[in-house]
Amino acid sequence: MRAVQFTEYGPPSVVHVAEVAAPHAGPGEIRVATRVSGLSPGETTIRSGALRDVVPATFPYRTGFDAAGVVDEVGDGVTGVGVGDEVFGTTRPAERGANADFVVLTAWAPKPAAWSWEEAGGAAGAVETATRVLDRLVVGAGHTLLVQGAAGGVGTVAVQLAVARGARVIGTASERNHDLLRSLGAEPTTYGTGLVERVRALAPSGVDAVFDCAGGALPDLVAIAGDAARVVTIAPDFTAAAHGVHLSHGAPAGETAAGSADPLAVHGLAIAVTLAENGGLRVPVEAVFPLTEAAAAHELSETRHARGKIVLAH
Ligand SMILES: NC(=O)c1ccc[n+]([C@@H]2O[C@H](COP(=O)([O-])OP(=O)(O)OC[C@H]3O[C@@H](n4cnc5c(N)ncnc54)[C@H](OP(=O)(O)O)[C@@H]3O)[C@@H](O)[C@H]2O)c1
Repeated sequence: MRAVQFTEYGPPSVVHVAEVAAPHAGPGEIRVATRVSGLSPGETTIRSGALRDVVPATFPYRTGFDAAGVVDEVGDGVTGVGVGDEVFGTTRPAERGANADFVVLTAWAPKPAAWSWEEAGGAAGAVETATRVLDRLVVGAGHTLLVQGAAGGVGTVAVQLAVARGARVIGTASERNHDLLRSLGAEPTTYGTGLVERVRALAPSGVDAVFDCAGGALPDLVAIAGDAARVVTIAPDFTAAAHGVHLSHGAPAGETAAGSADPLAVHGLAIAVTLAENGGLRVPVEAVFPLTEAAAAHELSETRHARGKIVLAH
């Protein structure tokens, strides 16, 4: 089968498609014939070598954490899903490799009929991450949440999941994305200089929690929340500990020096299905690339200005 990988650190051009053996579903797992898989922006940083001291890559590094497709193998002990079913989900965290023609999923849910394959292929990682952070911040009805970096793959999903919990959401993005944020249920503002004052003007009684998807502004975000414990970042911002902020990641234990991993919030997938079927969750897709053009997808992702998800079609 074809799989996207890189075998050395470097620019997007080191990303290529290789012929590799297809994986098989072990106990508790399923295998799907992939229709669409998601590009994980974090993998562009791993590929560049910028994180080599913190999250060293082992080569070949097979990319991709989430995918959607048609079930073609069901492992021992799996019930409730069968060959031919359409699903979306996440792969083995330690191996990744979802940008491939066949992918083993360890967590999945039925593909909502309301979603295209492109939306479903890019959904699971963002849903898992957003659920993990919203759970940790205990975001619920009546809370005001600031999402920093709200127009990206994780931010667009986080906004909608928080709105579905009954929260008021303020989201930061550049102005060209403010209509998108409004359409998702957030009140938009711009990031950068003056953020503290702009958020105070929107929420004079303060915000209850901050979900940082961008990095680089933690002192402002702590000032906005009033307490570092009310801020969680997912960005590779390694000043987090110095600011008393939790950096949430789901990388397997021992793989990273960025602090210990949080358990993956894969229960979010079932919640996402219910919301999607009721029209309460969509997955904005910035671009769809053929699998063979994964290097170009990396190039676009590292602009850090994707509006929603970048996905690969198989
Ligand atoms: N730790 C984890 O578990 C985990 C999981 C998933 C992702 N991540 C990481 O979390 C980050 C967000 O992921 P993602 O998938 O949402 O990435 P993404 O889709 O690449 O995010 C792109 C968005 O970031 C916004 N942005 C760029 N610079 C910004 C800034 N200085 N302040 C605020 N927003 C800014 C852009 O908005 P404008 O175009 O409007 O400027 C764009 O919409 C990435 O660094 C990713 O690697 C971590």
